[in-house]
Amino acid sequence: MSKIIGIDLGTSACKLLLVDEKGCVRNTVSKEYPLCFPHPGWSEQDPGDWWTACREGVPELLAGFDAREVRGMGVGGQMHGLVALDETDAVLRPAILWNDGRTAEETAWLNDTVGRPVLSARTGNIAFAGFTAPKLLWMKKHEPELFARIRKIKDYLVYCLTGVHATDYSDASGMLLLDVEHKCWSRDMLALCGISESQMPRLYESFAPVGMLLPETAAALGLPQGVTVCAGAGDNAAAAVGTGTVSTGAAHADSRCNISLGTSGTIFISSEKFGVDATNGLHAFAHADGGWHLMGCMLSAASCNKWWQDAIIGTNDYKGEEAKIAPEMLGRNHVYFLPYLMGERSPHKHPLARATFTGMTMDSTRTDMTQAVLEGVAFAIRDSFEVAKGLGINITETRMCGGGAKSELWCRIMANVLGIKVDLLKSEEGPSMGAAMLAMVAAGEYGSVKEAADNIVKICKKIDPQ
Ligand code: XUL
Repeated sequence: MSKIIGIDLGTSACKLLLVDEKGCVRNTVSKEYPLCFPHPGWSEQDPGDWWTACREGVPELLAGFDAREVRGMGVGGQMHGLVALDETDAVLRPAILWNDGRTAEETAWLNDTVGRPVLSARTGNIAFAGFTAPKLLWMKKHEPELFARIRKIKDYLVYCLTGVHATDYSDASGMLLLDVEHKCWSRDMLALCGISESQMPRLYESFAPVGMLLPETAAALGLPQGVTVCAGAGDNAAAAVGTGTVSTGAAHADSRCNISLGTSGTIFISSEKFGVDATNGLHAFAHADGGWHLMGCMLSAASCNKWWQDAIIGTNDYKGEEAKIAPEMLGRNHVYFLPYLMGERSPHKHPLARATFTGMTMDSTRTDMTQAVLEGVAFAIRDSFEVAKGLGINITETRMCGGGAKSELWCRIMANVLGIKVDLLKSEEGPSMGAAMLAMVAAGEYGSVKEAADNIVKICKKIDPQ
């Protein structure tokens, strides 16, 4: 019997998963860390907190299990963040996260002066405020002393585990520094940002082994020597692996996608061929299965519900609030919510967009507003879904993961708003399961990501749209 650890380095917490080689979940641990908004629109985290969460979480995860059975480890995590390390590999400043909007000026310069066609030809994508390249330009201008001391950028956890500066193609795709089609750093983009190739981590396929756990790290985590660590993936690619959204051999004709309702909300369409959305509403990124994908990313998804319930109506009884939404109310709500609490990325590309409720009358209730929040997020996902449809991609079915997927009501709303079937999975762990599956391939348990997905991912219920 062997065991594998999958880690999802999320925005609100680090989620750790212990699975056996058949993909059965044996234990889970979640370790929260703070998210800082030092100025309006800024979003930062201390990478040291990620490592602390991992260092404390792994021994907790292993309590009561035979750690000698662990063969592999994989990490999936939030994309686009700028982690800058100095000559001693110490973190130079807090990580600037994917939902940070400070780079409006740099993003506009990249898109309007360098030009969208040039960026798209070099990387497959245009600039968005959360991507890494505009953050490097921001740091160069606003923190020149720190910028001059950068020796390496990203990926922090895999480095802490193995001592190797590595990243994978799916995560590197979100930097606007990777030639996504040819899977190599774009020299032109690096030069534009004042970065040299030696400051970049080495590139790997997500399922490739990067190395073994460092001996002292293995000891600190309570793990044996010889645990293989794979390159891992961006959280959305890892989630797609975890839900079995891997290539079936079709180029964008794939009829199934994955929707993740986490802090962000994404729709992920896997493909064996590289392709670009000419409107750049959807990102063209590498997948963790060796192929590529198109993805629409909204910046606030389950976080809208969290904001509404925790901060505004002051409850943590999400289930209780949702239970008040009667089935006959679906499709009949006259209250609407626009979910742009952090601006919006796909497909509107508007960092200054803001959230709003509208349509209330004197008889509107708190329950109508809760329903509007869930529906507003579903309609925002539909905006990206419509872009995919416009490209001729015919999606008839989706898998779902992320915190929001725990709500069957939200899955039902998603089926209705998109007019497609929703498959509920036995495990909606998403990124941590996907990271574990990538590690299984790296450790030789399965021959390919597709083989792992075919053996591990199980559907427990299908919801039809009404
Ligand atoms: C994807 C994106 C988010 C983060 C969240 O482009 O920005 O989904 O990866 O962790």
